[in-house]
Amino acid sequence: MHSSSRTSPIRICCIGAGYVGGPTMAMIAKQCPDIPVAVVDLNQARIDQWNSDELPVYEPGLQEVVAEARGRNLTFSTDVEGAIRSSNIIFISVNTPTKMHGIGAGRAANLEFVEKCARKIAECSQGHKIVVEKSTLPVRTAEAVKRILSSASSGATFDVLSNPEFLAEGTAVSDLLAPDRVLIGGESSQAIEQLASVYERWIPREKILTTNLWSSELSKLTANAFLAQRVSSINAISALCEVTGANVDEVARAIGTDSRIGPKFLKASVGFGGSCFQKDILNLVYLCEHFGLSEVAKYWEQVVVMNDYQKKRFSTRMVRTMFHTVSDKQIAVWGFAFKKDTNDTRESAAIYVCRDLLEEGARLMVYDPRVSEKQIRQDLMNVFKASSGEVSERHRQLIEKNVTVVKDAYTASNLSHAIVVLTEWDEFKKLDMQRVYDQMHRPAFVFDGRNVLDAHTMDKIGFEVHGIGRS
Ligand SMILES: NC(=O)c1ccc[n+]([C@@H]2O[C@H](COP(=O)([O-])OP(=O)(O)OC[C@H]3O[C@@H](n4cnc5c(N)ncnc54)[C@H](O)[C@@H]3O)[C@@H](O)[C@H]2O)c1
Repeated sequence: MHSSSRTSPIRICCIGAGYVGGPTMAMIAKQCPDIPVAVVDLNQARIDQWNSDELPVYEPGLQEVVAEARGRNLTFSTDVEGAIRSSNIIFISVNTPTKMHGIGAGRAANLEFVEKCARKIAECSQGHKIVVEKSTLPVRTAEAVKRILSSASSGATFDVLSNPEFLAEGTAVSDLLAPDRVLIGGESSQAIEQLASVYERWIPREKILTTNLWSSELSKLTANAFLAQRVSSINAISALCEVTGANVDEVARAIGTDSRIGPKFLKASVGFGGSCFQKDILNLVYLCEHFGLSEVAKYWEQVVVMNDYQKKRFSTRMVRTMFHTVSDKQIAVWGFAFKKDTNDTRESAAIYVCRDLLEEGARLMVYDPRVSEKQIRQDLMNVFKASSGEVSERHRQLIEKNVTVVKDAYTASNLSHAIVVLTEWDEFKKLDMQRVYDQMHRPAFVFDGRNVLDAHTMDKIGFEVHGIGRS
């Protein structure tokens, strides 16, 4: 029993002001005006952006949510220790990327940042605190977190909860406002109740699921594995469609009406991206291997293998279709973010397709409505990094000379030999395609990696359109 934490008013802090910590805490602060919410991060530049009108994360509706709560009960700062001291519920929402070196490299999650948070919490805490794992973590991480916390020399006590985040980038605000469910795993029913009481302010009680710690941790990895698996499944079928005359969008519609399958997440594409799907599946694969479940590991790994295949297949098809060479040809790249309505480019399929096209000597005119030129160049530099961390002079020159970042889709397509659509931004559907066609070389190739453009209308204008999963 920790009566002090039960009776004292809730004060929240969140370590990590990223794509999850920022929007999640902004929503809690908006919905609970009486609860102080302190979001802290080591990255001063990111905190400065959260305190400005140019938020570091683009999400429809987020600016309004932040504006309502910031300065009232929502703060952003780098004072990690101060925020820990003055809070009784502490969310850990730091990044958990795939390990790049050492044991489990390329698969296991790098838990360095989570561990550092746990140590900092142990060091700064007094009394009783609830520590909430918001980051996506391998199952049984809470055990390690508890051990680190129990080393607190001040005599502080802790409950550890797992409360994974299920928001999707691009729809974060509506997902946080009306989630399918909130999941809270833990051992102490009192701590679970206290966290549930925060969400209950705006989320119906029946949508707040409670489980044991390990089920909660594993459910997040499982959810992402299932979602990515659906994408890889329909993408696998898209390859078969292309050689048989079937149309993958028609197949998706036909199977999606089966209530056991359902229509969502059946959109074939150039491949999934984002910071989570690949990393979380690889993490699951690593866990399965660790526990000696090699068949289970191989099963899930295939989801990532299929995704890599889809990206490569797409860039290869582009080169083959354009008479086996794109060298010195100008290609308009429409979209660089990993999906629409976000500025996030982590693991975006665009990075890999651009890499392949640059290797073939193409000149790229890149346009994305939300991604900065700096980010695009940085991502391309990173993808060309050798294992030593070096980028060769040839690759540097390619990025410098063969990549131009422009401010709109028309400028990108002007004098291009081809257009490649890599993000499904709505604005691409509204363009004057006759105007686009008139500016391009002939044949005017379009490679629609998202199947968003109206192929029929484009055919009539004279484009040569190649979509995903259509012969
Ligand atoms: N991005 C998503 O859509 C999404 C969805 C659900 C869950 N998740 C999970 O949430 C976690 C966070 O993801 P994200 O996309 O917000 O990552 P992010 O990289 O955008 O943000 C993480 C932040 O944590 C900060 N940080 C790292 N170590 C710190 C420390 N010791 N002290 C203070 N700050 C520190 C970093 O500076 C960074 O700003 C990950 O585990 C991810 O898997 C992400």
